[in-house]
Amino acid sequence: MREAKDIDFEKHVVATYYLDTDLDLRKAAEALAGEQSTGTWIRVGFETDDLIEKYSAKVLEAKDKIVKIAFPHGNFGPVVPMLLTTVAGNLFEMKDFKNIKLLDLEFPESYVKNFKGPKFGIKGTKKVLGVKERPLIGCIVKPCVGLEPKQFAEACYQAAVGGVDFIKDDELIANPQYSPIEERVTETMEALDRANEEKGEKTLFATNVTDEVDKIMENADVALEHGANCLMLNFITAGFSALRMLCEDPSVNVPVHCHRDMFAAFTRSEYHGIHTRIVSKLARLCGGDQVHAGAIHGKLYEDLDVVMESVRVLREDFYHITPALPVSSGGQHPGKVPENVKHLGEDALILAGGGIFGHRDGATAGAKAMRQALDATLQGISLLEYAEEHAELKAAIEQWGILKS
Ligand code: 6PG
Repeated sequence: MREAKDIDFEKHVVATYYLDTDLDLRKAAEALAGEQSTGTWIRVGFETDDLIEKYSAKVLEAKDKIVKIAFPHGNFGPVVPMLLTTVAGNLFEMKDFKNIKLLDLEFPESYVKNFKGPKFGIKGTKKVLGVKERPLIGCIVKPCVGLEPKQFAEACYQAAVGGVDFIKDDELIANPQYSPIEERVTETMEALDRANEEKGEKTLFATNVTDEVDKIMENADVALEHGANCLMLNFITAGFSALRMLCEDPSVNVPVHCHRDMFAAFTRSEYHGIHTRIVSKLARLCGGDQVHAGAIHGKLYEDLDVVMESVRVLREDFYHITPALPVSSGGQHPGKVPENVKHLGEDALILAGGGIFGHRDGATAGAKAMRQALDATLQGISLLEYAEEHAELKAAIEQWGILKS
């Protein structure tokens, strides 16, 4: 096994795995490193010592089911599909491994410098909206499928005028026949102009441009031509490479919102797959401005510490890569706003679908209740006390209660 001191870390990406095997852990790690770089199950003639020295992955640590391997990044280059093929490819199939989970990836600056990262991120998104020193409040239009463009735009108007900063398509709507992007964006942006005029604030609308890869930029162009001020991609189903293409395209001069549906297929097992922090890290590396990080005590499976780990990697220092805005979404409502603020602080986007559109007095009341909950929290006033003077918040609390920490 190599000593870490022998490795030029600027030339390697270091991957950490949980590895459960009946084999000797070190031997298993060597097999993994070989299989994912120069080797195969048997030494072959062309596999010279020189070639191994230069191109093989090196085991840095193998202890207590945790294995660290350094992969020469010259083997795959700044190409996310090939990075993943190397650090998270066939190794999941190796029959001698009972379970294996990729826990983390550490990148040197020499690798990251090839990526542009988010154009907007936290600061840029807030700047577009003119919001300072508070989290953003947003909504997912519900019902997520089935609304035709005019109905959809009316739903957006109602939520916007009630005070949401941000509105998004659900991940289940992109460019269906009943609501083509062109019409949906045109109607919605007109509705938002009206709402913005009335409320004296701005609203972003994240248009979902997810499609077959060769159609994504086409959808983005159509959306932008018709006034879209934010785009969205289901980046796990479309792929990290599609996300990077969209975010790095010079014509995309609006923030890109990143929805991670399907990620749990490979993150949810504690023992097998890929850790969520890598999903978040790569989404940011590929240029995602706003990235779903899970829900603060919402309806999703992840524990608070896993959610907060995603939040950390989205906001931590990462060479020149701008911090991305963490998104808390899934089962949120006004009664959960204090807990969101407690954990996320001011640099986050809190989304509610049912928690706004399901308000008994309608979406405008739902949006007002979310903003009132935020105002109360920021002023250090309890929601119950604030609700005495704010009917919309009062109704929301009667409907859904207040999450106790
Ligand atoms: C989205 C949502 C979605 C989520 C619920 C949220 O951004 O599209 O996060 O993935 O699971 O649809 O809706 P509720 O607020 O009603 O739970």
